[in-house]
This record gives sequence, C-alpha cells and structure tokens, in this order.
Amino acid sequence: MKTLSDINVDNKIVLLRVDYNVPMTDDGAVADCSRIIETKPTIQYLRDHGAKVVLLAHFGRPQGQVHETDRLRPIISAVSATLGVTVSYVDDCIGPKPKAAISQLQPGDVVLLENVRFYPGEESNDPAFAKQLAELGEVYVNDAFGAAHRAHASTAGIAQYLPHAAGLLMQREVTELTTVLQHPIHPVVAIIGGAKISTKIDLITNLLPKVDYVLLGGALANTVLLAQNHQIGKSLVEAELAATVKDLLSNKLKVPVDVVVAKAVAEKSPKRVVSLGAVAADDYIVDIGPDTVRVYEDCIRQAKTIIWNGPMGVFELEAFAMGTYHIAKLVADSEAYSILGGGETVSAVKKVGLEQSINFISTGGGAMLEFLEGKILPGIVALD
Ligand code: 3PG
Repeated sequence: MKTLSDINVDNKIVLLRVDYNVPMTDDGAVADCSRIIETKPTIQYLRDHGAKVVLLAHFGRPQGQVHETDRLRPIISAVSATLGVTVSYVDDCIGPKPKAAISQLQPGDVVLLENVRFYPGEESNDPAFAKQLAELGEVYVNDAFGAAHRAHASTAGIAQYLPHAAGLLMQREVTELTTVLQHPIHPVVAIIGGAKISTKIDLITNLLPKVDYVLLGGALANTVLLAQNHQIGKSLVEAELAATVKDLLSNKLKVPVDVVVAKAVAEKSPKRVVSLGAVAADDYIVDIGPDTVRVYEDCIRQAKTIIWNGPMGVFELEAFAMGTYHIAKLVADSEAYSILGGGETVSAVKKVGLEQSINFISTGGGAMLEFLEGKILPGIVALD
C-alpha cells in the first residue's frame, strides 16, 4: 500500500476520499464527529503541502439516485468546525459545477463534493464514472477506511487513473489491525457481541486459532447456547445456524453462564438474573449476567491484547446495558492493548465516558470486521 511519503502532493489538486457517513441526531446535526476528527491529520498534511483538498464522500444508501435526505450539506458546518477551516460545498460530485468550484481553490482550501452514491456508477464501480471523478484532480488519497470493504468507483476504481496513496488514517487503521491479527502479544482475548451470529461467524472462525479466548455476548450468543441444547425462550436467535456454530465450539470459546431475562424487550419490563438452566419458555435473554461478567473478567485480566466488537446485550435500553458497561470498564481498566470498533461498541464505550482508555478505536464497522476476518479489502488493494 502506497503512503503519502510515496507521492508528491505539493500544490496539487488532491481528491481525498473520506468516510463521513456519520450518525445524525433527529434534528439534523452530526451526532458523532469521530470520523471527521480522524481525517484531520491527513487534511492538515495536505494543506501544509499547499494542496487544494477536494473531499469525496458518501452518505447513507441512496442507491444511485439523488435523495434529498442524503445530501452532505447538513454536515458541512460540523466538518468546518471540526477541521478548523472553512470548507465549501458543491451539490454535485462530477461535471461542470465541481470543476468550476475547484478552479477557484487556493492552496490549502478545502471543498466537500456531494454524495458520490447519488450516481449508480459509484457502487457499480463503473470505470467511466471513476474517470469522471479522477478528472477533477491530480492525485488521489484514500482515508476512508470505513468504506474500504466496498469496491466502489471512489474507493477503488479511481486509483487506476491517478497517482494514489493511503491517507494517514487509512495507514494507521491498517497498521493497528494488521498488528493485532498477525503479531499480537498473548494472551489475546476477543470479545464478540451483537445481534446476529451470521455476521460474525467468519470473524470468530478467523480469530479462534489466533487468540486465547473468544468471549461471546449479545443475541449472537443465543445461537451458540441453542447449539449446546440450552433453553433460550423467545430470545433472538438464528436457529438455522445452530449446526454450523457447533463446529466453533472449543475450550477457547466462552459463552454466558448466566443471563438477564425479561418478558418483553422494553425498558420498564421487570428483569431477572437466571442461570442457563432456568430460562423460561416466554423469556427474552437481554444481557449477560453477573457470573458471566466474573468469568469474562478472569480472561480479560490475563489479557495482553483485547479485540472487542459488539455489545453484550440490548444496551440501547439502559435497563439491559449493565453487562456491556461492565465489560467496557474491564477493558478500559485493563493493562492490555485494546482495539475496538463497530458503531454500537464505540457508542457504548462513549456512553460511559471510557473512550480515552482504549488504545485504538477503529473508524470501521463492516470494514474492520472484514479486515479481521482475513479478507482482502478492495479499497486497500487499490492503493498498491
Ligand atoms: C459505514 O458506515 O460502515 C461505511 O461508511 C460503509 O457504509 P455502507 O455499509 O453503506 O457501505
């Protein structure tokens, strides 16, 4: 992968692909600026080299059409404030409008172009669309690690037409994740949670031979419990995967020994802590129990490296968030090198104000998962 030191950006028009697919509040403000903050070093580097910075980004999944609700204009003030520079905005990403705006840029200026996913050629990685994007600049830099698992025109195809390199964020993500995957300090503990085992089977399969423990939580653990013939009541489960999951069972794989259950997945629904044998037919498992936290604590205390992706329960409801919060505290207090990612995990850690105690928080959700699954990401390969 080429990096910024491999290319000349001095006084060039640099097309910088960023992942500003940020969460928004109900009243239309950016709810979490992390992804914008993390691009600051690259943008500063480019500005320091007199580059004119043209930001390419996607937002939402408009499926090749202009969706008013997926325009990038609403994030512009947050982008300007976060970067500490007035960023201008153009409501198109190819053709005469961006060309005219770019021709007016001075060295150090930054402009954000409209959502590249308004054109079908973006997601189909159409070479003609990639070329139209490439025509806007002289150099291509990719800092959008969060979208690196997409083989799209602005994340992959465009690199064929311009001198290219990874930005500083992309470089850091790749270095951090490669290190935990290939040269971690043992013992390594992976904590995997979330709703669906189908989205994490490849991850667990790839990590199991490399780590010392995999601690499971969240609804995805229910499928494993079912595979072990435990009663899981009415809990969320992917029963069709129970047989597949049996292949993963090993001493390294830890599942809850007790759980929090409720008769409804609702904040005010009364909850009980029960051992695994005592889940009733009309119970929903909503969190890991205190004995499970203790078992997991033993593993986490031994760890020298921790990888965490996915909450331990329905943490969006405060009543069922304790398991996730306890794990967040244990990871934060641990001396181990900790890496985490995924929107829900990051938001849980931020809710309890512990993000400063984590060594590396990836900006990737799906991209981090695919990287840790051992897959080759098209957005990274394109930068070779
Ligand atoms: C993300 O938010 O994970 C990335 O921006 C990728 O978005 P996508 O899943 O819509 O491709």
